[in-house]
Amino acid sequence: MGLFPTYRRNGIRPVEASGVTIKDEAGRSYLDFTSGLGVCNLGHGHPRVKAALERQWNAVWHVSNLFEIPLQEKVSNRLAELSGLSYAFFCNSGAEANEAAIKLARRYAQTVRGVKSPEILTFETSFHGRTLATLTATGQEKVKVGFGPLPSGFIHVPFNDMESFRAKIGPDTAAVLLELVQGEGGVRPADHRFMQAVAAECRRHGALLIVDEVQTGMGRTGELFAFQGWGIQPDVVTLAKGLGNGFPIGVMLGRAGLEESFGPGTHASTFGGNPLAMAVADAVLDCLCEPGFLEQSRAVGERLGHLLRVHLEPLPGIRSVRGLGWIWGLELDRPSLPLVQALAKRGLLVTLAGERVLRLLPPLVTTEAQVERAVMLIEETWMELEEVVTDGSVSGV
Ligand SMILES: Cc1ncc(COP(=O)(O)O)c(C=O)c1O
Repeated sequence: MGLFPTYRRNGIRPVEASGVTIKDEAGRSYLDFTSGLGVCNLGHGHPRVKAALERQWNAVWHVSNLFEIPLQEKVSNRLAELSGLSYAFFCNSGAEANEAAIKLARRYAQTVRGVKSPEILTFETSFHGRTLATLTATGQEKVKVGFGPLPSGFIHVPFNDMESFRAKIGPDTAAVLLELVQGEGGVRPADHRFMQAVAAECRRHGALLIVDEVQTGMGRTGELFAFQGWGIQPDVVTLAKGLGNGFPIGVMLGRAGLEESFGPGTHASTFGGNPLAMAVADAVLDCLCEPGFLEQSRAVGERLGHLLRVHLEPLPGIRSVRGLGWIWGLELDRPSLPLVQALAKRGLLVTLAGERVLRLLPPLVTTEAQVERAVMLIEETWMELEEVVTDGSVSGV
């Protein structure tokens, strides 16, 4: 009896969380460089977000989409203005946002372009969620084992490989779905020239470019939307995690011209766009769009990357440091779980991305001192695990 054992848990039992700190039942404090898996971008218990939730809490929680919900209109208008897109469909998670994007792309291809068997191109080592369609879209076999028969119409191509991509895109391609930094797949940023070419090929074939910003959106890469750093304009963007800072939310944004493919009765969600979630998202956007916030925060995130490159990359057993903004991966020459566990014992919480990558997803409000402390802890812990004897020249962050 109890919980399905779907998660490998870390054994820590949090009872309090504030900013970048989590406290557990035993009174231990941890520096949280997981942000609840890339969710609490503004840190735990952000006062402005809490206040917005409290206000809405006392007004109306849930009425369903039978009703007009003014806060949905406000948040969708804000997201439209910020993203250059026009329409929003609200749901409750990243997988649901991608599911909506897949449905929209198929329907648009069939009803507007007359494509009989629409195909969706996605990339190897990608991650798009755990529903049947999104796990099929995901470019990792391990999430699919035992779940067949899977939906048809998904084609996977190697990431950052233009030749393979050009060989697969064609008149039946309804959409190309991708992450600009593959998160779960090992913190792999898309090559800029590759992305320009993908966007151009999508335009040439009439395929929708769907950027999955579930993990990269809301400041994680240093821009509000990661795509702004790649100089492309997607047709569809999906968001979740950081938009709610811990309150469940998801959204699919789409460009003008797609709305007719998602008319009444085509798609729905009972909880999607619930007033509580909307009040939270509105406050999150207020904070992220505060003048100077993202610029200042990005500089601290880049300092984290710099310190990782200087102090960790040269060490034996570390293959590479990858990332940008506030998403960083440390690729090891062995499984990363023992390092993650050793760091937790020393009070630093980090996560995995694939078997050999340690992933850092700190809140965007992490201070420079906290960044320095984290790098020092990783360096010391790695050297202990490695039993590397140094002359001290690599320490002293
Ligand atoms: C890029 C990406 N897409 C989709 C998802 C799925 O989101 P959710 O777990 O909210 O369904 C995730 C989750 O980690 C993700 O990183």
